[in-house]
Amino acid sequence: MIPYAAVPGTIFAIVGPTASGKTDVALRVAERIGAEIVSCDSMQLYREFDVTPPAYARRRKPRVVDQIETLIELGVPAFSFIFGVPDRKVLAECQRRSIVTIGAATTADEATALEAAGVDVVVASGFEAGGHRPSFLRSSDSSLTGLFALVPQVVDAVGIPVIAAGGIADGRTVAAALMLGASGVQVGTAFLACEESNAAPGHRAALLNASRGDTVLTRAFSGRLARGLRNRLADYLESIPTVLPYPVASELLAPLRRAALLRDRIEMMSLFAGQGAPLLRHRRAKDVFEALVSETDATLRARG
Ligand SMILES: Cc1cc2nc3c(=O)[nH]c(=O)nc-3n(C[C@H](O)[C@H](O)[C@H](O)COP(=O)(O)O)c2cc1C
Repeated sequence: MIPYAAVPGTIFAIVGPTASGKTDVALRVAERIGAEIVSCDSMQLYREFDVTPPAYARRRKPRVVDQIETLIELGVPAFSFIFGVPDRKVLAECQRRSIVTIGAATTADEATALEAAGVDVVVASGFEAGGHRPSFLRSSDSSLTGLFALVPQVVDAVGIPVIAAGGIADGRTVAAALMLGASGVQVGTAFLACEESNAAPGHRAALLNASRGDTVLTRAFSGRLARGLRNRLADYLESIPTVLPYPVASELLAPLRRAALLRDRIEMMSLFAGQGAPLLRHRRAKDVFEALVSETDATLRARG
């Protein structure tokens, strides 16, 4: 049996004599976070979902550079990225081929860094936004600014167009972002809830039924700070003293995530969602889009 390392009092497991040779790495991680070594027999969540806990062996993922090369070869009109600034050569090649580059910032400093590197457009990501926090200069915990404060700061800091993202789900919120100086908006959660999205049916229903205060910023879903609906998985992992870092937490949760998706059991899914979820009303992407356009027009006209 492969022994597992868990943070005290919990189930998570990364240590084992695996053929992949990752044992030492896993042990070092366990040591650093003060993880306790337990047997996988104690992993109640896996048992409950009747799935086999994974041995820690990192799967080969597509390398970002390969993905970027493909985008450039395909000559896509725009290349949007998060978690930092791409290599100078990549940005130069995009510029040469007229591919618009769009980077995400959670602070004015990050926006300035993106502009200085030659990025064309910056997304100001307020802490209301669903999904992972894309911070890259300082820790995501110390880069949590609400959109209302962030947009004007970013607009003042850079000369490139600013797209506002986070909590925008109806015409009022679009109009507010434009009034704050944004050139456009980026909407995630409202489209995630639509039937065209790849989210599980239970996830979509939970988004449409969300009430105020349902979302939480947590590392529980992947090891990286992200906003999602509070559920049993988030509560459980938040209750333990240390959540394992990304990508360890994400990989260990993968079999649970798959099982939960297959059974549409939302209490064990990564329920990404932004704080605007209680504003959602539409189930089709077309309806979301049309409502955003007409409501924004009406709001701006009403204000003269
Ligand atoms: C499930 C999910 C996945 C996301 N993945 C990405 C991504 O891969 N790249 C990216 O630039 N933004 C990503 N985002 C962020 C959105 O593009 C958008 O900025 C954000 O959802 C806006 O906030 P809102 O959720 O309050 O509408 C994601 C958001 C969610 C909810």
